[in-house]
Amino acid sequence: ENHFYGKSWLKELDYSAKELNFLIDFSLHLKDLKKKHIPHQYLAGKNIALLFEKTSTRTRSAFTVAANDLGAHPEFLGQNDIQLGNKESLADTAKILGSMFDGIEFRGFKQDSVEQLAKYSGVPVWNGLTDEWHPTQMIADFMTLKEEFGSLANLTLCYVGDGRNNMAHSLLVTAAILGVNFHLAAPKDLQPKAEVLAIAQELAAESEAELLITTDPKQAVNGADAIYTDIWISMGEKVDIHKRIEALLPYQVNQALLAQTGKKETIIMHCLPAFHDQETTLGKELAAEYGLSELEITDEVFLGPNSRVFVEGENRLHSIKAIMAATLGEIFIPEEYFN
Ligand code: CP
Ligand code: NVA
Repeated sequence: ENHFYGKSWLKELDYSAKELNFLIDFSLHLKDLKKKHIPHQYLAGKNIALLFEKTSTRTRSAFTVAANDLGAHPEFLGQNDIQLGNKESLADTAKILGSMFDGIEFRGFKQDSVEQLAKYSGVPVWNGLTDEWHPTQMIADFMTLKEEFGSLANLTLCYVGDGRNNMAHSLLVTAAILGVNFHLAAPKDLQPKAEVLAIAQELAAESEAELLITTDPKQAVNGADAIYTDIWISMGEKVDIHKRIEALLPYQVNQALLAQTGKKETIIMHCLPAFHDQETTLGKELAAEYGLSELEITDEVFLGPNSRVFVEGENRLHSIKAIMAATLGEIFIPEEYFN
């Protein structure tokens, strides 16, 4: 029995620890199949809509290639291609898409949009990032940890930087569900929202994950198996760039911070895109305006031996494939993953 069948994935809280663990293990299995060129066309003949209100490199590519590998047809529908609430209600769009497509990915601003799509389309909807959550990224991230360390047991993940965005919230809640210790360092007014922290604390009490939220990056990274950071200004955020940079500069992930973990094998993670290199349009602007060529992470650490950022990026493909195959395909789920 596949109890994922027909389900959407809108936020991390929709799935239990066992379900998340299944998706992580299934992702590793699908990665193995892909590397060995063993076909895995669980979704032959299906059609998948990919809705993007915001830009994307990894998520769009991963959904496209994953759909093709699974034997399904992906169709990209960008912000200027369809109505998406402009001339037509989201509910009407959802009903039409649901009558033609077997599954829908949505990336955009409001969490409410992805919820409405799921409510009115009647087909599985996968959240490819909203202002609130980034659930598909979570499977890739915890898969990367498991791949690196062999198990998630007793691991400590430490997030440093903007602690109030989609990534920080998603990592906090997912770690709490899975029982992975989670440390977070951010300035006071960029720490997780109280309601998200409350949810995480409740989950952590059950999973026995240890949570630490602090303003002190050195304290946070102590004992960390992985240090994670994200871009300091998220898509669609309207903030004073100068103030944000000033607030977050003490939270840059650099060699000095990495040396504070007390562990040799600490890995560096980042969901990407990352700002660490002046050779981008944004980089040149920031360098000219603020004299900075690196923000949340230094080039040295980003490209250094402890970095796993590109493995993590590749794992988006395998994990998104697992999510689509589980919710739309006829796959076998071993009993150990049942709730
Ligand atoms: N990590 C991630 O979601 O990347 P994209 O914005 O490129 O999809
Ligand atoms: N916090 C970032 C994540 C990008 C994958 C953003 O929302 O832009």
